[in-house]
Amino acid sequence: MYNFIQKFHSGWAYLALLLLLVAVVTCWLGITSKKEFTPKDRKIALLGLIATHFQLVVGLILWFISPLGKAAFGNMSNAATRLTSLEHPLINIIAIVLITIGWSRHKKAATNEAKFKAIALFYTLGLALILIRIPWHLWL
Ligand code: HEM
Repeated sequence: MYNFIQKFHSGWAYLALLLLLVAVVTCWLGITSKKEFTPKDRKIALLGLIATHFQLVVGLILWFISPLGKAAFGNMSNAATRLTSLEHPLINIIAIVLITIGWSRHKKAATNEAKFKAIALFYTLGLALILIRIPWHLWL
């Protein structure tokens, strides 16, 4: 069970990061080229949102069953275990909250530019936070 969830979280990360990146690039291009916000742009952003939410659920399960989920508790001086036990989960939850705020702001926005901006800004922030706290030493 642990092995499967760990491998799944590891593999799904490629998809989630790729979809987020595509959504970010699409929205920044939308702002700079002043184009219309189309159903295709919406779909790309929605896929990024769904992929990260799914990763959050899998990550939460993994945190409870992985030895690395609790490895740092009682001893926060080890940077590697502090990353998987605390920093990676916490920063990723904040990142996913930001991505969700971007999605809901785009829904309330009235203009094409405001829609692109809401997603571009919040998804970029979320993606940056995710990237600075990935346990790269375990992954690649
Ligand atoms: C979009 C968000 C996230 C991404 C892209 C992501 C990505 C990753 C990656 C690439 C690894 C290394 C996997 C490997 O060993 O090959 C990892 C490990 C881990 N992640 Fe996440 N993660 C995300 C969110 C979360 C969340 C929200 C939690 C917990 C609440 C979490 C808990 C963990 C744990 C505990 C590990 C260490 C697992 C182990 O090796 O036993 N992740 N994550």
